[in-house]
Amino acid sequence: MRTPLIVGNWKMHGNRASNRALLDAVVRGMAGQEGVECAVCVPFPNLGEVAGQLAGNRLAWGAQNLSEHAQGAFTGEVSGSMLVEFGCRYVIVGHSERRQLYGETDKVAAAKFAAALAQGLTPILCLGETLEERDAGRTEEVVGRMLQAALDLNGMQSFEKVVVAYEPVWAIGTGRTATPEQVQEVHFFLREKLPASTRLLYGGSVKPGNAAGLFALPDVDGGLIGGASLVAADFIAIVRAAQRKG
Ligand code: PGA
Repeated sequence: MRTPLIVGNWKMHGNRASNRALLDAVVRGMAGQEGVECAVCVPFPNLGEVAGQLAGNRLAWGAQNLSEHAQGAFTGEVSGSMLVEFGCRYVIVGHSERRQLYGETDKVAAAKFAAALAQGLTPILCLGETLEERDAGRTEEVVGRMLQAALDLNGMQSFEKVVVAYEPVWAIGTGRTATPEQVQEVHFFLREKLPASTRLLYGGSVKPGNAAGLFALPDVDGGLIGGASLVAADFIAIVRAAQRKG
C-alpha cells in the first residue's frame, strides 16, 4: 500500500527566525503522529538550519527546485548534489510557478526530474492545467503531455518511487479548491499511466476544512500544501486528516 504523504511547500516566505519558529511548532505538533509521511520543502537559504533542526526527526525536508545540470557555469543555480549535502530527501520539480513565471518547459522539468533521480532525491513532479485549458476541455491533454515528457526521458520504472502532484493552476493560492469529483477524475487518469506504487498528491488550496474529503478519494495519496503549511496548526490538522487514510 502507498503510505500517505503530506508535503509543505513554503515557497518564498518567512525569514530565518520565523521559519525556525514555524518548524519548531510543526515538530511539536507532529509528536506522536504515526502512519503519515511528512516533509517540508523550504527556501534554499533555510536548508542548513532545517537540516540541523530536523536531525533525528521523522519529518523529512527538501527543496522547491534544482538545476537540470550536475555542475558548471550556471550562475544562480543549485544542483541536486548540493541538496543531498544538506540532507534533502525531496525536491519539487516543475511547479506551475516555475513553469509560468520562469519559463520552465516540459522538457526542462523532465530533465530536472532526471537530475533529482541521479542524486537519489525523490522528485515531486507537479502537473496542472490553467483555467482556460480546463474550460476548453483540455485538462487531460495538458497533464498527460506534462507527464509524458518526464516518462519519455526517464522511463516508467523511474516512477515507481517518485511523487506526482496534480495542482490545477486555478486552485493554487486562490482559495478555490477543485471539487473531489474533479480531483478524482484527473488522479484516475494519471493513475492509469503510472506504476501502482507512485504516490499521487493533490495540491491547490488544501485547508484543514477540505483535506479529509480530498484525501478520502481512492487515487489521492496525500497533499502538497502551500499557504496552509505556513500555519503550524493548519499543517498539523491536514496531517491528521491524512492519518485517517493511512
Ligand atoms: P496553495 O499552494 O496550497 O497555497 O494553493 C499549493 C502549491 O502551490 O503547492
